[in-house]
Amino acid sequence: MSKVTVVGAGNVGATCANVLVTCGIADEVVLLDIKEGVSEGKAMDIMQTASILGLNTRLTGVTNDYEATAGSDVVVITSGIPRKPGMTREELIGVNAGIVKSVTEQLLKYSPDAIIVCISNPMDTMTYLIHKTSGLPKHRIIGMGGALDSARFKYFLSNALGANPTEVEGIVIGGHGDTTMIPLTRYAAYRGVPASQYLSQETLSEVAASTMVGGATLTKLLGTSAWYAPGAAGAQMVKAILHNEKKLISCSALLDGEYGEKDLCIGVPAIIGKNGIEKIVEFELNDAEKELFRKSAEAVHKTNEALAGCC
Ligand code: LAC
Repeated sequence: MSKVTVVGAGNVGATCANVLVTCGIADEVVLLDIKEGVSEGKAMDIMQTASILGLNTRLTGVTNDYEATAGSDVVVITSGIPRKPGMTREELIGVNAGIVKSVTEQLLKYSPDAIIVCISNPMDTMTYLIHKTSGLPKHRIIGMGGALDSARFKYFLSNALGANPTEVEGIVIGGHGDTTMIPLTRYAAYRGVPASQYLSQETLSEVAASTMVGGATLTKLLGTSAWYAPGAAGAQMVKAILHNEKKLISCSALLDGEYGEKDLCIGVPAIIGKNGIEKIVEFELNDAEKELFRKSAEAVHKTNEALAGCC
């Protein structure tokens, strides 16, 4: 029996729960929110698709009842406020830090062995905050950003290539920020063939630029932060853990010397399996990519400074 808790029944959390249920990723899912009725309502709505879609996962919605989350194998934290058009993810830090810290404490009280997937923004800093305040081994705390950014990269790549997105390779490392993420165009490929054999450098640069502002573009169009791909990316991480997939997924991991950085969480390729982050994979970066990573890490460190007083 596998059990997952998703905290936050906003757009991202509810979408994550919906994908977990619809794709049969877990046996049991609990959706928790502080707002009375919201998680119950969304869970009921999703469960009413069960006979239509032939679903076997049980989803329950609860209002702030952490006891109901007891014994979860994985917990997904989406709590906090989303950004509004024109806002950066970093501007959310003051409000979201307190929320994420207290949610983590309550979750761990009832699920001390759970692996934590963090989606709340600013994602790298919130993941770091969970490390600092929970004291859990580093492999058990995973930030979702790189999975989402890589999915967006593959979306724009597949459009440029006229290819099926599932046949395109693309990975984004670095911070989950409009200016800090690094779509590795040099490693982008279509069925093992470098994308640069099909696309000009100019097109590849355009694809990278669209990827970097992918979240901001959607926030502008929707008036709030995106949810379908963020929720699905969270569910993808849960699946890799519960099903021990050993998949290479870009995620925010606590670094201890890898990629020349220490004491921060930032997007790197990692093998995700039943233990969470099982291995950080060090891609060979050229000088320009190394410099981009260094600058990205510098920016994430700077954002982390705003946590002073929280942990
Ligand atoms: C985004 C938010 C979830 O990138 O960070 O859409």
